[in-house]
Amino acid sequence: MQEDEESFIGLYRSDGTALVTYPEVDATAGKATTHALTDALEHDELAGKLITGRSFDKDQRLLIFRRVGQYHLFVTAGFLLNQLFIAWLHHFFLICALAGLPCSAIWALLGFSLRQLAAEERGWKKWREETLRRRDAEASGRHLQRMGALGNLVANVAHEFNNHLMAVNSNVTIARKKRYTDVEDQVLAVERATHNVAGLVRTLMGVTRKQPVKPAEVDLFEAIPKLRPVVRAAVGDAISIGFDVSPDLWPVTVDLAEFELAIINLALNARDAMPRGGKFTLSAENVKSESLLGGVQAGDFVLVTASDDGVGMAPSVAERAFEPLFTTKRQGTAAGLGLAQVLAFCELSGGTAKITTTLEVGTAVRLYLPRCVSREQRPTGQGKVHTTPTDSATTSVLLVEDNHEVAAGLAAVLRLMGHDVVHLDNADNALLALEGGQRFSLVLSDVQMPGKLNGIDLVDWLKTHCPGQAVALMTGYADELERARGTGVPIFAKPFDPQELTTLIQ
Ligand SMILES: Nc1ncnc2c1ncn2[C@@H]1O[C@H](COP(=O)(O)OP(=O)(O)O)[C@@H](O)[C@H]1O
Ligand SMILES: [Mg+2]
Repeated sequence: MQEDEESFIGLYRSDGTALVTYPEVDATAGKATTHALTDALEHDELAGKLITGRSFDKDQRLLIFRRVGQYHLFVTAGFLLNQLFIAWLHHFFLICALAGLPCSAIWALLGFSLRQLAAEERGWKKWREETLRRRDAEASGRHLQRMGALGNLVANVAHEFNNHLMAVNSNVTIARKKRYTDVEDQVLAVERATHNVAGLVRTLMGVTRKQPVKPAEVDLFEAIPKLRPVVRAAVGDAISIGFDVSPDLWPVTVDLAEFELAIINLALNARDAMPRGGKFTLSAENVKSESLLGGVQAGDFVLVTASDDGVGMAPSVAERAFEPLFTTKRQGTAAGLGLAQVLAFCELSGGTAKITTTLEVGTAVRLYLPRCVSREQRPTGQGKVHTTPTDSATTSVLLVEDNHEVAAGLAAVLRLMGHDVVHLDNADNALLALEGGQRFSLVLSDVQMPGKLNGIDLVDWLKTHCPGQAVALMTGYADELERARGTGVPIFAKPFDPQELTTLIQ
């Protein structure tokens, strides 16, 4: 019980007489202090509360009463209202103080976090803008670099072409001066120049994957040691050469000329990487690849590794080394195309190429060439043509070619070989001749020509209307190569040796 003056407790009879109160009030007063309480007690209310005053002061009080069991007695308790209000206020401020602190801390934290978030968003936007600006700058920088490299490449290629043309020119002049007698040396020199130019063109076309390849089944155990002289010529005398080829190598299906070119490119790079000499090793072994190799299906591969103990490459160089036109060297023909050709060759053969390199230790370039699955020859230049028997002893060739220089050269060689040659300069005219009933021992057609039809359309027409007519395609451009391959007729990649046609016609 509260001991202070403000609290009041009492026991009353139902007629309102106070039996005992605390604090004591004059017992002789007898009756309850208010009419309100007396009324409530006399009306036999069991419990209730009233707002009232007390006889000894005028303050308003909250008076609570309750009947004691079945007796006509009531206990009452009174509290000063303003004291209750003060206590309530006290509690309220206490709770506010207690809750206010963490609440304001939370609000402060929330505000701080929102501000941080806004600042981070601004930072992120700035960073993104900066990244885009940098990417644009890098892209245009790379574009400029590429254009510069392309310019160098064009200049180098033009320079190289001019050198070979110069050689051809001077030898033709000598031949003319000699009145075309005893000109074997000059013819050989022209042949060499032609061969070199064809190699250069092949490199350029190979890198852009436009070079029609002539894949054939190859045993690298035999082919690799035969490359010793070209590898020696490429690396020079200061570098020793090692060959380590497993005897039980699986066969692979590759264009041998492209493979040779790839090895020469690797040997040239090794030479440049070992200016003070060293060792260049070519090894070949069978490997089974469980995981995917750079987008190539897992399977059996012949792994050809070209390694050197040269200067190696920094990671930034190794990353870009396969990129066409990427070079760290100043001079050279077809600069930056060596490793691009190596990769293009591997990919066109169904495989891939990888580089392992360490600065000042050396470099290994790995060529993964898929194991040849079927021993069947592909329908390319090596394909067999079933010729229709001709009545006459001489054979006749319909040559469909829009380039008159090429046609004139080919026709001359074919005539020298003893064949009759009819030359038409587009597939539309060839179709007219064939529709007119003319037949030939062989129809040899270019793929891309002006007019409505191209060489492939001509082959399709012949397969439907003259199934017995022998036909072959020739092309220097690989865009339509897949479609041409689909026809199943032999395809010759220009420039080709006209001698190859002899076996085809006979
Ligand atoms: N065996 C190697 N050792 C060190 N660096 C190499 C080797 N092979 C290639 N590289 C680097 O890769 C670059 C690209 O090579 P490549 O495509 O052959 O072009 P290029 O030889 O014309 O520069 C070279 O410039 C060189 O920096
Ligand atoms: Mg190179």
